[in-house]
Amino acid sequence: MTARIYTMVNQKGGVGKTTTAINLGAYLAKLGRKVLIVDLDPQANATSCLGVDKHSVKHGTYEAMLNITPALKSLLSNPTLGLTLLPSSPALAGAEIELVQEQSRDTRLKQALQPLAERFDYILIDCPPSLSLLTVNGLVAAKDGVIIPVQCEYLALEGVGQLMQTLQRIRQSLFPALKVRGVVMTMFESRAHLSTDVVGEIRKHFPNQVFNAIVPRSIRLAEAPSYGVPISAYAPNSTGAQAYMALAKELMTGDGVALPE
Ligand SMILES: Nc1ncnc2c1ncn2[C@@H]1O[C@H](COP(=O)(O)OP(=O)(O)OP(=O)(O)O)[C@@H](O)[C@H]1O
Ligand SMILES: [Mg+2]
Repeated sequence: MTARIYTMVNQKGGVGKTTTAINLGAYLAKLGRKVLIVDLDPQANATSCLGVDKHSVKHGTYEAMLNITPALKSLLSNPTLGLTLLPSSPALAGAEIELVQEQSRDTRLKQALQPLAERFDYILIDCPPSLSLLTVNGLVAAKDGVIIPVQCEYLALEGVGQLMQTLQRIRQSLFPALKVRGVVMTMFESRAHLSTDVVGEIRKHFPNQVFNAIVPRSIRLAEAPSYGVPISAYAPNSTGAQAYMALAKELMTGDGVALPE
């Protein structure tokens, strides 16, 4: 087994990167996959969403990227959820500055995750909302592509256009094989014409790149993090839960991975 590695990326804040990493991960785990969530954001939202106090994290993504502690020694596993986390902490913000002079600064995360590839089926990396050195590390580590959460809102297309240009720059400079695995439409409001229009527009511009599963705006998805659990453990029958289950199945099917009976 060699893990498929996907990175959740969008320089725009608050579009659902972390929500997608956590809940897609939770359903891949429910479908029998071994899943690692890598928190690559100094905000450490993925870490908090999984019930871990970011201020208590002594070893995590930062220490792995700086070669202080191997990632393997920093993993936190949640057997109930079947999820493993490489946690983040505010210290990760320092990596930006500390790595800037280093030769291999763009490949630190990729290298740090290499020893874990045989232990997991899926590694999902949650990026910060910026095009910083951390995000560049996330892109370079995205062996199997990026997953782009896009909020169903005005000017969504413009934001994705900018992101596509960034991906193109990374292809030219660092990682020619960087792929888009898919765009996930988030916070869809069925009663708002705008949501439907935005989905149509994004689909038109990125044919065959938008997942069929669309994540609705769901209060349950926003509430689950305050209980430190994914939606699968908080409101498994909610519309948001169903959407992330559908997304997990769609991803696995597209990857050629058999779904459980
Ligand atoms: N489908 C949804 N329905 C309702 N609320 C949502 C949904 N998806 C995300 N949210 C909420 O919107 C906020 C932003 O989501 P999230 O943290 O996943 O975005 P992000 O892209 O990771 O943000 P950042 O760029 O700051 O890392 C959070 O409060 C989250 O709970
Ligand atoms: Mg986030």
